[in-house]
Amino acid sequence: MKLPHMYRPGDLIEVFYTMPYGLDNGQERLDLLGDRWLLCPTTMLGTNRPRTGWTERWLPATVIDAPNVSSGTQGSIRFRWDVHMWFDWASGERIDMSDPGALFDVAPVTRVRPRSRNWNLSPANSGRGIPALGGTELHIGGVPVSVSFIVFRWGAAKIPIQYDAHSWGRTEGSTVSARFVQLFFNRAVAPRLNFDYEVLTVFVQHSDEFVGISPEFLASMCSGRHIAALYFLWPIQGQQTYGDKISCTAAYVDANPFFELVARMESAGIPTRWPHHSHLWKCLTSKEWVPHMSVVPKYHVPLTTRVPKSLVISNPLNAARQAIATLWQLQKEKRADDSYIGPAHSDWTPGGTAERVVAKLGYSYEGVDVKMVQGEYALSDALYSLTTQQGYTNDCVYVQQRVHRVDLEARCFVLGGEVVETLYTRFARIDRGGYVRDYEKAHSAEEAMRDWFYNDQTAWQKAMEHITALTRRWYVWMLAQSAEPTVSVRIDYMLERVGPGQADVWTGEVGEQGYSMGGIDPVIVFSSVLDSISEDLCQRHAPNGFSGPRDGPPGKRPHREGH
Ligand SMILES: Nc1ncnc2c1ncn2[C@@H]1O[C@H](COP(=O)(O)OP(=O)(O)O)[C@@H](O)[C@H]1O
Ligand SMILES: [Mg+2]
Repeated sequence: MKLPHMYRPGDLIEVFYTMPYGLDNGQERLDLLGDRWLLCPTTMLGTNRPRTGWTERWLPATVIDAPNVSSGTQGSIRFRWDVHMWFDWASGERIDMSDPGALFDVAPVTRVRPRSRNWNLSPANSGRGIPALGGTELHIGGVPVSVSFIVFRWGAAKIPIQYDAHSWGRTEGSTVSARFVQLFFNRAVAPRLNFDYEVLTVFVQHSDEFVGISPEFLASMCSGRHIAALYFLWPIQGQQTYGDKISCTAAYVDANPFFELVARMESAGIPTRWPHHSHLWKCLTSKEWVPHMSVVPKYHVPLTTRVPKSLVISNPLNAARQAIATLWQLQKEKRADDSYIGPAHSDWTPGGTAERVVAKLGYSYEGVDVKMVQGEYALSDALYSLTTQQGYTNDCVYVQQRVHRVDLEARCFVLGGEVVETLYTRFARIDRGGYVRDYEKAHSAEEAMRDWFYNDQTAWQKAMEHITALTRRWYVWMLAQSAEPTVSVRIDYMLERVGPGQADVWTGEVGEQGYSMGGIDPVIVFSSVLDSISEDLCQRHAPNGFSGPRDGPPGKRPHREGH
C-alpha cells in the first residue's frame, strides 16, 4: 500500500466508494440532499425509476492534497471524483456541477490506490472542460473484481421501512431494511473480499418497474468474475397503492412481475444468492408446501387445505363448511394410516367443541394474515375478511387444524442441515380478532422449559428428540426442492406438553432466508451465502474470522466534503 505522504496533488488514483446505506423508520431526511449519491452511468438511470447505479465500487479520482507525513498509514486523502453522474436515489436530483467543489471528497488512505489501467475516461472526466450538463458514463470501464453484486432494494423513501427492534434483531433490523443491507456488506462482504467487489443497486418503488429492467444490461455494466443477485424485497400477492387511506407497506412488491424479473435474471445466468433461487423462494414463501406436506404424517404439519377464493367470495359460509368437512376427512384418512403415529393431541373429537382452525394467507409476513377461529361461522368471517382486504390479490386461503395449545415455539436456525441455534419464544395472547400478540423470547432453553413447559424435563427431552428427527427430515426435503443445498432456513416448531413426560411437536413454518434473525448472529448466515457464490470465495475467509466493522468511515457523498 502506498503511504499517504507519497501521494501528490494531481496524482491519478482509484478510490473505493461506498454510499451510506440509508436510514430506516422514517429517519431519512428527504428535505435535504443527503448521503444518497448514486453513480448512474446515464441520466435516465438517475432521474427515472427504477434508479440504478453504483453504491460501492472502485472509481477514478485525482488527488487534491495528501495528509502530512506524520499521519503514517492512518491519514485521509482529499481528492476530486473524475466521474460526474451522481444522483440522489430518493429524489432523482443530480449533483449541482456548477459548484466547483461538488466533486471534492475525502477518504481514508486504505481505500485509495494509484489509478490502474482499467479506465477509459474522456477529457471531460479529467477535470478539463467538465460539462455542466449532459454526458454519459457508460463507457468508462471499471476495475476487475471477484464479485459484482446486483442488489434490489426498496427505493420509495417517503414510504419508509419500519420495524420494531423487539421482534427483529436490534442490530440488523428487518431483512429488507437499510440496516440489514449494511450489515451484509460491512460485516460479511467487506472483511472477506477487502474491496474486491462492487455493488450495483436498483432502487425499486413500484412493481411496474420490474418489466423495464434488462438483466443483460445490468450484467454488462459489471466487472466481476462472478455476478450474484440479492433481493431485499418481500413479494406479496397484492397491489401497490399510494392514494389509499393507508399506502402500501415498504418493500412489499407484487409477486407476479417480481418473480418474472427474477426468472429473467436467472435466465441470464445470474443466480439469486439472497434469499433463494426463485423456485425454492416461491415454494417457501407461498406456503404451498404446507398442504402438500400436511398429508405426510411424519413431517408433523397440521392438516391443511386450501379454500378457493371464488367460493369464499360467492358464499363464505359454504366455503367454511366445506373446508371443515375436508379437514375431518383428511383426519380420518390420516388415522386410518397407522404406519406412523404423529402428534395426536390436537385431533378433533366427534361431538366435541366446535372445530378450532387457523386461516392464513401465503406470501404474507410477520403473522399479519394468520387468524385463529373456532367453528364454521367464525371461519366464514375469517375467510371473507382475509380475501377482501384492500389491495389483496391472494387466490386462496389456507385453513389448518389448530394446535390444541402452543406452549411455546422453538425457532431453529438451520445452516447446512444443522441446527446452529434455537430461540424459544411464545405469543402470550391471542387478541379478539384471532391474531397472535405479545411476542416473548426466553433467555435460555432452561428458562423456556421451566416457565413454559411445566418444568417437565422428560417431556422437554422428548420434544428435543422430535425436533432433531424432524429437522433431519426437513433437510432431506429441502434437498429435494433444490439440488444445490440450501444455505439456511429457519424451522419453527410448535410445542405442546400434552401430559406428564409427553410432548407433541408440530412443524409451523419452514421460513425462507429473510426470517427474523433475532437469536443468531446474521454474519454466520451471510458468510455461508458468500461461500455459495463460488469455490474461490470459500477459500477466502476473513483473517482470524474477523467480522467487525470495516476500517474507517464509509466513503462520503461527493459534495459535502468538497466544502
Ligand atoms: N396451526 C396452528 N395452530 C396453532 N397456532 C398456530 C398455527 N399456525 C400458526 N400458529 C401461530 O401463529 C403464528 C404465525 O403463523 P405463521 O404460520 O408462522 O405465519 P407467518 O408466516 O406470518 O409468521 C405462529 O408463530 C403460531 O404461534
Ligand atoms: Mg411465523
